Amino acid sequence: MNLFTPFTLGSIQCQNRIGMAAMSRQRCDNKEMIPTAMMKCTAGFIITEGLPLNLDSIAQEGSSAIFNIKQAEAWAQIVSELHEKGCKIIAQLWHCGRVTNYVNNPLAPSAIKIKNSKYNQPKEMSLDEIQLVIKQYLECSKLIQSAGFDGIEIQASSGYLLDSFLKSSANKRKDQYGGSFENRCRIILEIVDQLKTVFDPQRMGVKISPITRQYDTYDPNPKELYKYLLEQLDLRNVGFIEIRDDDYPENWLDFGYPSSKSDIANVFQFCRPLFKGQIIGNGKVTPEMGNELIQKQICDGISFGRLFTSNPDLVDKLKTGQKLNEVDNSTLLSQGPKGYIY
Ligand SMILES: Cc1cc2nc3c(=O)[nH]c(=O)nc-3n(C[C@H](O)[C@H](O)[C@H](O)COP(=O)(O)O)c2cc1C
Repeated sequence: MNLFTPFTLGSIQCQNRIGMAAMSRQRCDNKEMIPTAMMKCTAGFIITEGLPLNLDSIAQEGSSAIFNIKQAEAWAQIVSELHEKGCKIIAQLWHCGRVTNYVNNPLAPSAIKIKNSKYNQPKEMSLDEIQLVIKQYLECSKLIQSAGFDGIEIQASSGYLLDSFLKSSANKRKDQYGGSFENRCRIILEIVDQLKTVFDPQRMGVKISPITRQYDTYDPNPKELYKYLLEQLDLRNVGFIEIRDDDYPENWLDFGYPSSKSDIANVFQFCRPLFKGQIIGNGKVTPEMGNELIQKQICDGISFGRLFTSNPDLVDKLKTGQKLNEVDNSTLLSQGPKGYIY
């Protein structure tokens, strides 16, 4: 078994185990937030860039979205083109939480600003605002379904809204959404329960980053927290999780936390026995590491992020053993097709 062995991600049949990880590329028109047709590559599965739920959940300029019919129609066209190439496509729903300068008083579990950062002071969400966000997930998921996507992924990693509910450094709430592990996981599980009314849970996934400290989100006891979360996702029959590993010292040095690896040395191995569904490994995984993780059955699929930006033809290159281009950081968040379609 290796990256090229077909597999079923939840109930999504993929021609290989190579995925493109979600990447905001800032290449869309700000006002309409309609996806550009440039987003093209081939892979077993493609996860879209994080799609904000509405205008209050935007982290940066140039995002695409799927909260209105016009956006959904544009997505339907992209989905059908990718299907013709045999790729499966999963929409990632995203709320940036306090990681924004775009929104005044952005929403967060608690009114805690990200340390040493330029980001705006957030406000603590009221219970009504939490319910509204859950409803917005539901409304977007209906459009995702209508656009013909194969699946949906909830972005609960990397310091954005849902990750900041999970981790105790950012969540000091005293109500049913803060405090215990159960309470900090509640909003994610309530979103899953709502999306299940629209999507088969086997077509649903959750992206997590148990040990990242990105944007000042830290929990001193990630083992207990994620054991509970994964057990609950299993109970709900969720098809897959995507796990972002973390080996970025700047994420802990900047915020004064201990090294990520001191919590859980191998986060993929830690999660494997805790979750019955499929596991996608992510985060500085090379193709060689990916093959090994699959062969040892630690992960079922691998999502590559930056490698795809310099190699949109990554799958063909790996198949034919061609040399891969180096990642060009200057094109990650720039405009234009370079680093996007070639
Ligand atoms: C330019 C850029 C934009 C990103 N945008 C998103 C995003 O919208 N949603 C998300 O979950 N992760 C996002 N990520 C993180 C990637 O999905 C991935 O987790 C990360 O790059 C690690 O994988 P890699 O080492 O293979 O690049 C982004 C990464 C980059 C480089």
